[in-house]
Amino acid sequence: MDNISVSTTDIRIERHAHQLSRQLKLLREKLFPPLSQKTLRTFTSGEAAQMIGVSDGYLRQLSLDGKGPQPDVTASGRRSYTLGQINALRLHMATIKPKDALSYLPRRRPGEKLQTVAVTNFKGGSAKTTTSLYLAQYLALSGYRVLAIDLDPQASLSSMLGVQPEFDLGDGDTLYGAIRYDESRRSLKDIVRKTYFDGLDLVPGNLELMEFEHETPRALSDRHRTGEVFFRRLGVAISEVEADYDVVVIDCPPQLGYLTLGAVCAATSLLITIHPQMVDVASMSQFLLMTSDLLSVVRKAGGDLQHDFIKYVVTRHEPFDAPQSQIVALLRSLFADDVLTATILKSTAIADAGLTKQSLYEIERGQVRRSTYDRALESVNAANSEVLAEIHKAWGRK
Ligand SMILES: Nc1ncnc2c1ncn2[C@@H]1O[C@H](COP(=O)(O)OP(=O)(O)OP(=O)(O)O)[C@@H](O)[C@H]1O
Ligand SMILES: [Mg+2]
Repeated sequence: MDNISVSTTDIRIERHAHQLSRQLKLLREKLFPPLSQKTLRTFTSGEAAQMIGVSDGYLRQLSLDGKGPQPDVTASGRRSYTLGQINALRLHMATIKPKDALSYLPRRRPGEKLQTVAVTNFKGGSAKTTTSLYLAQYLALSGYRVLAIDLDPQASLSSMLGVQPEFDLGDGDTLYGAIRYDESRRSLKDIVRKTYFDGLDLVPGNLELMEFEHETPRALSDRHRTGEVFFRRLGVAISEVEADYDVVVIDCPPQLGYLTLGAVCAATSLLITIHPQMVDVASMSQFLLMTSDLLSVVRKAGGDLQHDFIKYVVTRHEPFDAPQSQIVALLRSLFADDVLTATILKSTAIADAGLTKQSLYEIERGQVRRSTYDRALESVNAANSEVLAEIHKAWGRK
């Protein structure tokens, strides 16, 4: 009898899951020994000066005068700063030059509301996670306090940010812990974790997020249910940490489920990633209609669907590919200003850096071919700076 049960599909799949998990664990221990934490590289004094908005000479003088955090100095006299030190220097500059404080420390001021950007598209592989990661890191490097929320059960963003979804997380350690319907709900404050990236915190994801998709229909049909309806739960969770951040970036899963709808309602703006290929764009019209239908149901039920901006961003763009150019031209002619001017280029530098779970912001310029690196990073920076300009606009800044 046992033989029969051993060969049933559920048991076979369970065995495969355990085998895979064991092997992944071994592999991970080999690649990342238990104590090896992800760290962020340091920045040269030239890079630091540029990021802070002072001259290199001024920075050198500060360190000679013993003011502000002291950089590491190599035997040859080269100074390097951690991102934490750069942020401390920003604070230092804002304190000694209060008139220019905003340019040194660009965080939001009283009256400027928390910005929550949901990066979304129903299409799998349209570079949502990559776009979320680069935007969150760009903002953190620029001196903003950023919270990245991984809403995808596949948890790619978490692993890019140094959290292994399979091993590092216990029950309720993902966003699910803060939006679940039962009495185990915790405050998002207790779930947020620091990353190796100063100024960038993370709410990790893993498979337990799927519970929300399963529990929500039950909660919707339960008339005695207490607490907020599904599309308000994410917003309520975010409000528990609101004071600590300037921008929240949500990496959505590639489905239009309850999690994504919740993110769209919690968001103050949407960034929709588009891979400009016929197969991807062909389904878009239908999908936009479906999204709009679902959202109108949510709006009629009281969901907040006012957004400061909705932008399409073309990603993995190959500008010399004729069919792609046609599609980009089509999108621009239809959606005009709703499409970001900058496109994120398809680049082996981005793909290669991704293999080691790093972004171009994390690797040193010399690590990949310079022309490739520069071109890719320029395109990412241009797109991110357009998003930042929209955020400033929402804050009423010039
Ligand atoms: N600009 C780029 N150049 C080259 N490769 C890229 C670029 N952007 C993303 N990729 C690669 O494309 C793949 C898909 O990207 P990503 O994981 O960001 O998409 P996604 O929309 O989050 O996917 P999913 O729907 O599965 O969540 C990844 O392997 C990533 O490294
Ligand atoms: Mg993803």
